[in-house]
Amino acid sequence: MLSRAQTISEKMIKVDHVGENGAVHIYRAQRWVAKVRAPSLVPEISRFIQHEETHRKIFKQYLSTNGVRRCVSYHFGGIGGSILGFITGLIGSEAIIATTFAVESVVLSHIEEQLVFLKDHDTQAYECVLKIYANETEHLEVATSKLSSKNIYTPTLINIIQFSTNLIIKFGMR
Ligand SMILES: [Fe+2]
Ligand SMILES: [Fe+2]
Repeated sequence: MLSRAQTISEKMIKVDHVGENGAVHIYRAQRWVAKVRAPSLVPEISRFIQHEETHRKIFKQYLSTNGVRRCVSYHFGGIGGSILGFITGLIGSEAIIATTFAVESVVLSHIEEQLVFLKDHDTQAYECVLKIYANETEHLEVATSKLSSKNIYTPTLINIIQFSTNLIIKFGMR
């Protein structure tokens, strides 16, 4: 019998689980469109998809060993991710990279905060988050190194995605 996330640690992992599902769907949709719009990015996106699937599994494992039900917005995260990935994929490579930069920068600062809290509160959750930390750092580094703003709308796109990602995290932590 699964129950709702009770502790702050459980809520954090529940939200991370949604986030990873969102990330899997963003990158899958982007890869699908990028095959036509930005073929040079496809191998990198495929590599990211593998990472995000592993991250999702790590959090799923935590939730099931602790008897915690996944978040009600789990599928919402997947659908939202697919839409975002599809649209930005259509815009092209600059928007794809901007999305990676926006999402991963929020993710990274978020998990850095979590690590500080979890270290003293939940060793198992701490280790789960620590496992994904290196990958997320690398995702942000790759995006940062490729980021450009030839299109005047790119900074706005980044702001919108960062704002929405933060909002989703806050909503999930309620
Ligand atoms: Fe991830
Ligand atoms: Fe990532």
